[in-house]
Amino acid sequence: MGHILHIDSSPRGERSFSRKFSREFITAWKNAHPEDTVSYRDIGQNTVPHVDESWIAAAFTPPDAYTPELAKAIELSNTLVDEFLAADRYVFGVPMYNFNIPSTFKAYIDQIVRVGRTFAVTEQGGFKGLVEGKKILVITARGGDFSPGSPAAPYDYQEPYLRAIFGFLGITDITFIHVENLGAGDEAREQSFAKAHQAVAQAVASW
Ligand SMILES: Cc1cc2nc3c(=O)[nH]c(=O)nc-3n(C[C@H](O)[C@H](O)[C@H](O)COP(=O)(O)O)c2cc1C
Repeated sequence: MGHILHIDSSPRGERSFSRKFSREFITAWKNAHPEDTVSYRDIGQNTVPHVDESWIAAAFTPPDAYTPELAKAIELSNTLVDEFLAADRYVFGVPMYNFNIPSTFKAYIDQIVRVGRTFAVTEQGGFKGLVEGKKILVITARGGDFSPGSPAAPYDYQEPYLRAIFGFLGITDITFIHVENLGAGDEAREQSFAKAHQAVAQAVASW
């Protein structure tokens, strides 16, 4: 039995394509794996706060030295880290905004990348990810076409960034489904949806 953390980050509700396909995946996964459990967090419509000065002070203070103010400043981050570590698989619905992830998702990443919790500083001064043996499926939605070899491909800062930051935490098994070219007219969109439905079905069978 596995435990999945499903996160959506689009500020849009029913109009969101990243949500539509992350939900499609989760529904199909639950049918195929009824014994698995899923936690859901919507950081697109219930945003998590940006880190602030007391958060930063708390993140670099040992818990036994917390003042009440520092304990409060880091409380949500602790909840998010606990929730993150409790899962062994992740499904993220992520729009592309300005060639990268939306700030909703970046704010979440800033809350869960924590020294001593999700990564460590080694004696040699290097870094070591503390989140091992886990898998991520990212479903992105994009107006343009960033497929390999396309003119816009070099502007895709979304997939490389997500691979880098979750790799930093120790997660290297990351699958992407890009629902893209959504702004190129009805025909292109229908083609993209057909590819995405197929990719979701394939991921359910092989993930
Ligand atoms: C603020 C903003 C920035 C965007 N930037 C890009 C972009 O850089 N490249 C792109 O292909 N599409 C871009 N789009 C289009 C979205 O990626 C597209 O609408 C996608 O479907 C959004 O995800 P959602 O449907 O889950 O809300 C942008 C949309 C918004 C609202």
